[in-house]
Amino acid sequence: MCGIVGYVGPGSTLDVLLGGLKRLEYRGYDSAGISVINQSGGLQTRKKAGKLNVLVEDLAGSPMADAHIGIGHTRWATHGAPTDGNAHPHLGGEHLKLSLIHNGIIENFAELKAELLAAGTKFSSETDSEVAAHLVAREYEKSGDLTQAFRSVVNRLHGAFTLLCIHEDHKDLILAARRNSPLVIGLGDGENFLGSDVAAFVEYTKKAVSVGQDEIVELRAESVSVSTFAGEPVTPKEFTVDWDASSASKGGWPSFMAKEIADQPQAVGDTLMGRLASDGSVKLAEFAGLDQLSEVNRITIVACGTAAYAGEVAKYAIEKWAKIPVSVELAHEFRYRDPIIDAKTLILAISQSGETMDTLMAVRYAKERGAKVLSICNTQGATLARESDATIYTHAGPEVAVASTKAFTAQITAGLLVALSLSWLRKAMPEAELKGLGKELLKLPRQVKKVLDSVGHMRDLGKAFSNAKSILFLGRNVGYPIAMEGALKLKELAYIHAEGFAAGELKHGPIALIEEGQPVIVVVPSQKGEDSLHPKVVSNIQEIKARGAKVIAIAETGDTQVDSVADEVFHIPVTSPLMASVLSVIPLQIFALELASAKGLDVDQPRNLAKSVTVE
Ligand code: M6R
Repeated sequence: MCGIVGYVGPGSTLDVLLGGLKRLEYRGYDSAGISVINQSGGLQTRKKAGKLNVLVEDLAGSPMADAHIGIGHTRWATHGAPTDGNAHPHLGGEHLKLSLIHNGIIENFAELKAELLAAGTKFSSETDSEVAAHLVAREYEKSGDLTQAFRSVVNRLHGAFTLLCIHEDHKDLILAARRNSPLVIGLGDGENFLGSDVAAFVEYTKKAVSVGQDEIVELRAESVSVSTFAGEPVTPKEFTVDWDASSASKGGWPSFMAKEIADQPQAVGDTLMGRLASDGSVKLAEFAGLDQLSEVNRITIVACGTAAYAGEVAKYAIEKWAKIPVSVELAHEFRYRDPIIDAKTLILAISQSGETMDTLMAVRYAKERGAKVLSICNTQGATLARESDATIYTHAGPEVAVASTKAFTAQITAGLLVALSLSWLRKAMPEAELKGLGKELLKLPRQVKKVLDSVGHMRDLGKAFSNAKSILFLGRNVGYPIAMEGALKLKELAYIHAEGFAAGELKHGPIALIEEGQPVIVVVPSQKGEDSLHPKVVSNIQEIKARGAKVIAIAETGDTQVDSVADEVFHIPVTSPLMASVLSVIPLQIFALELASAKGLDVDQPRNLAKSVTVE
């Protein structure tokens, strides 16, 4: 959701702000705006509803003088429609000399607005954010101390916010604050940056500092000072961004999504790197941050959306290999139902962004009740990583397309590593078997590449089904979360009805949906093992075929039984049944990408969606 960028330094502020907002576009937004302060001309603000190019064209038509300090914002509307007036920045004070941008929701804004209205303040938007601009300006007009005014206001706000504020009287200072919303500092040489995430400034610096909960930043070209809302100084922790600006560009692909699907052999390989020895043994150094791991008697996975489906795969793996009971909880449901948590519960939080508010709140809730938190996260410096006892980073690189692809397969890979590592730690399986699984896992990046090399048929099928009104997905065991993920990709990208079912559930209701020509994609389990569900799913295919369904199956190479019953089959390499989840989702990603592209839809920024859901 909302993208934020701030810059102070000798460079071109307009370039930094507009470039930063461009790279933050993926977060999802519906209006954009900037404010800069010139040495001569004072505060200037420009903001426009619509995509960033509307603002850029407006600036081209009537140029703004460049400056050495400024703030920029892309807004994902919450309070008030996406109009020019509701776009950020918002100005505050009698002479409108203060400019402020906000990401989040100020929950007590109505009460604060009433107070300001009673004092005669005039509002020019319907947003909650404008309240903060007027409050800071009013406090500053009283005290003459901008930092103090800012501090006193942020202490009055409830809810979630990242705020950036500049004032015409202070041509070298950006004030920023964060609570329950992301903010990162970029450290330059004689210049400094602020961003909702490092994408905002990675083109200029790789040195970054993440800002903690309830902290205030005073950013100048030559200095950065961080303190708590209460005024206590904080020594911030620096980190180095491990990807460059080019990895967040399309690199010749027609869309970020297409590029990120193609990135998967590397994303999976990088996530395994250094964690899996060539003899197949697994040891996660990250476990060192978690004492009492051997005493854990229950694991609760909290996540949302695609990350929760990766959690479902991790659950099957942890239970099978490490023999620890696992439940997967949608983070937004979890903390509202008195879940049972104690010091022997390990919370495994999964999030690409590490900023999903529902997941963060679930983690905080569990920590307050004594649980330890292990997270799987793709974003360095993210709030989730800061608040976890240990973090396993998926090294998938920046994921820009709103629909998650490479982060998902990297999350599953990390989940498989967690399961194997726990099994080693607790001696839950014979060493030889564990090594065998580890060696199988080592093959995964090459197998992912093999799948990608053969997806042509799936592309054609995606195009061929572009007029479908509804597509159903079936799977069992780890194929079930993969079926749900396949359906989610179609909903997100192609805006058509799609649903994933556990194939065993079919006869309990969903089979009533099957009629002549209904497309059904079936994720067929591996034929391996005595307990294989393969024969049962083949029967399901026959049952739906008998009722007119058009079946596309995703099955192992050499699965001749499926070849003979399905209308179309896409083959994936043979691997361990749990690891097949990583391979079988790829054709479903391609199918959704091609179907949505054939409909002429924007696959990188689907309607109504934001990449990182930073409000509840
Ligand atoms: O950043 P997170 O992994 O916490 O995001 C969780 C979900 O919002 C996310 O996976 C969402 O479902 C994606 N749009 C799926 O493609």
